[in-house]
Amino acid sequence: MVIKKLSLHNFRNYEDETFFFGEGLNVLTGKNAQGKTNCAEAVYYLCTGSSLRIRHDRQLIRHGETAASISAEALSRFGSVSLRADIYENRRELYVNGNKLTRAVDLLGNMNAVFFSPGELRLIQDGPDERRRFLNLSISQTSREYCTALLRYQKILDQRNNLLKNHDISLILETLPVWDEQLATYAARIVFRRRAFLKQLSPLACEAHSFLTDGAEILSVGAEEREETEEQIRERLIREFDNSRERDLRLGFTTVGPHRDDVKISIDGDEARGFASQGQARTAALSLKLAELAIFRDITGEAPVLILDDVMSELDLPRRKKLLSRIRDVQCILTCTHAERVLYGAECNKIRIQGGKIVP
Ligand SMILES: Nc1ncnc2c1ncn2[C@@H]1O[C@H](COP(=O)(O)OP(=O)(O)O)[C@@H](O)[C@H]1O
Ligand SMILES: [Mg+2]
Repeated sequence: MVIKKLSLHNFRNYEDETFFFGEGLNVLTGKNAQGKTNCAEAVYYLCTGSSLRIRHDRQLIRHGETAASISAEALSRFGSVSLRADIYENRRELYVNGNKLTRAVDLLGNMNAVFFSPGELRLIQDGPDERRRFLNLSISQTSREYCTALLRYQKILDQRNNLLKNHDISLILETLPVWDEQLATYAARIVFRRRAFLKQLSPLACEAHSFLTDGAEILSVGAEEREETEEQIRERLIREFDNSRERDLRLGFTTVGPHRDDVKISIDGDEARGFASQGQARTAALSLKLAELAIFRDITGEAPVLILDDVMSELDLPRRKKLLSRIRDVQCILTCTHAERVLYGAECNKIRIQGGKIVP
């Protein structure tokens, strides 16, 4: 898949700008705070309907304006596709090939993206939510069904948590089993898909890490050994919800379920979180992203667009070269301040950005 053209209108610090991207490596250069990451963010937003940096879409609107618009034309193996997001202060409109979407999940899968930035270290070093977020964003891109299950699960979970805070115990005990039945249905779908994804991801991440470290380190990404059908997971979860009811009531929230799960990541047998050095964590995070890229390629039959935001300067020279050699056949949008220092003459389409404008 190749993004040919990206137009930004009142998006972040861009007023009106159109980028033309080439098939391989596209390098956005410029000093700090000029709009490189903003451009990368716009690409990611069109692929996923969300940004990794913000809570509210309105932050994407250029200061002093009331609406932003991002549009792109891409070429996938099924032909050309155009995407557009019009972002207003309290709502947004999404379009695929000019057709307005009634459900945001229908944006997913039209254009896939893998995003890697220094912030992705959190995936290794921070708590379980970062790893769940990775799974959720990643699996959602290739499965609208997963994304829908996730949204429904969250909604029922919120309602269940509200109920747990109620003071009417008999009401709670009467209503809870009904919620739990529904909650378990979506929870099982989530758990089942995550397991399948991790099973695929685990060897790919291990291989990528071994490639990046010349076999010096072994990365392992915990995949569940248990073989369970979705229905078996559902039945088990109903029992678990049931067993934790007393504790849930005492604490006022739901203490078990896929919103609490973690993925164990270790390097040479030691848990990476809290143990891995910055350098190791960076390489491990990159390995996960390369594995994600390989999975997308497997599932969709073509490579997603790879966004590398500001990561080259943080990798040592051998790793940079290895990374570049690995992504030769992938469209990549890479941002950095000094292209010469990170690319060593690799062939690329260079775009200079200054103050939210492309420098001709
Ligand atoms: N909604 C917005 N309206 C106007 N400017 C914005 C908005 N959001 C961010 N910016 C500006 O964008 C710049 C940062 O752009 P960014 O792409 O992160 O920089 P970099 O080139 O370092 O990656 C900052 O100057 C910031 O003030
Ligand atoms: Mg930046």
